[in-house]
Amino acid sequence: MNPSTKKKLLITGGAGFIGSHVVRLFVNKYPEYQVFNLDKLTYAGNLENLRDIEKKPNYQFVKGDITDAEFIGSLFNTHQFDAVIHLAAESHVDRSISNPLEFVVTNVLGTVNLLNAARQIWLKSNSVNGDISSHMFYHVSTDEVYGSLGETGLFTEETKYDPHSPYSASKASSDHFVRAYHDTYRLPVLISNCSNNYGSFHFPEKLIPLAIHNIKNNLPIPVYGKGENIRDWLFVEDHARAIDVIFHKGKTGETYNIGGNNEWTNIDLIRLLCQIMDEKLNREDGESAKLITFVKDRAGHDLRYAIDSSKLQRELGWQPSLIFEEGLEKTVEWYLANEEWLNHVTSGAYQKYYEGQYVKR
Ligand code: NAD
Ligand code: DAU
Repeated sequence: MNPSTKKKLLITGGAGFIGSHVVRLFVNKYPEYQVFNLDKLTYAGNLENLRDIEKKPNYQFVKGDITDAEFIGSLFNTHQFDAVIHLAAESHVDRSISNPLEFVVTNVLGTVNLLNAARQIWLKSNSVNGDISSHMFYHVSTDEVYGSLGETGLFTEETKYDPHSPYSASKASSDHFVRAYHDTYRLPVLISNCSNNYGSFHFPEKLIPLAIHNIKNNLPIPVYGKGENIRDWLFVEDHARAIDVIFHKGKTGETYNIGGNNEWTNIDLIRLLCQIMDEKLNREDGESAKLITFVKDRAGHDLRYAIDSSKLQRELGWQPSLIFEEGLEKTVEWYLANEEWLNHVTSGAYQKYYEGQYVKR
């Protein structure tokens, strides 16, 4: 297929953890799409995550900032994207507590800039009442917008928004803007809200990769509070598959929850991880667990997240593919086999990988 006739798909935040898995899946699975990966390469963006597909003819990297409205407008005008999968964001709760404004700017303003640009090119070429079914603005969001659960219950698509951290408040706000553009301008949109992801290429500031790094290097494993908070963990490749299914089969205007049906207290998860690490590093049983260190709790720390993903399973036929013990072992094996990736991230060398690459705008 001639590249100019290919469907043009813009993926934002494709150099990050989840985005890189989504880009890889789409580039490999859909040669008929021209995939543009737009990423600012903040500290969380790493083109080394995409080494295996960077030379594929249907892939193009664009370095750029979603908060720059003029740049975004001209990028959409130049390429006339058919669809957007939007993942670019500031994503770490602890950073949002130290610097909330950065989260408002990236997650809210950045999303609105993309919505405006999509609206401008799609609704101009197809009047508001015309056929815009070939376009889609897919916004990737989080379960944290629903707030915190007690001991029972699950987040459904109908759960009232109740964000507590500056991160989740900024994501909730961006979700509201996406729905507002659908309701006001009839922009074709989809939203998914996913639980905690884990797997390869996860930046080692988040619990699982941080703990793997620290155990490997005999450093303390910081567990906030008493380690009693509960998260619902999903293997990142299962999230990417869910995004593929929702993007292709989801009903315009709908929201889909994605989750692993896999709740763990932080302390139980860390104990399991320590056991796996002991085995893989040929350490005595219980050696890694000695590194567990209880530290001051996160401010406003949500107690429990748990997702009801039955809508996605029932209507679109998606299911998680791995049990957690299997996925966690696979993840540990990946980090141990990819020492160079981890060393580059911890030393900052990954930020040099981009230098010398051609920037296409
Ligand atoms: P990440 O922090 O690993 O990656 C974010 C990416 O966005 C990076 O590559 C970064 O360079 C890029 N970016 C940041 N600001 C930008 C800007 N102004 N312009 C262009 N690019 C910019 O995040 P992640 O964990 O992969 O999460 C991706 C998305 O999925 C986010 O929207 C997040 O809210 C959502 N999400 C994450 C999880 C999770 O467990 N990590 C779960 C549910 C939803
Ligand atoms: O639920 C989805 C969300 O999951 C995403 O929207 C976020 O982008 C993603 O970062 C993640 O948020 P969490 O705050 O749940 O993830 P994090 O890995 O930071 O923390 C997981 C749990 O572990 C949480 O209860 C806090 C705790 N924790 C975290 C760190 C970094 C610790 O106990 N020690 C730590 O050092």
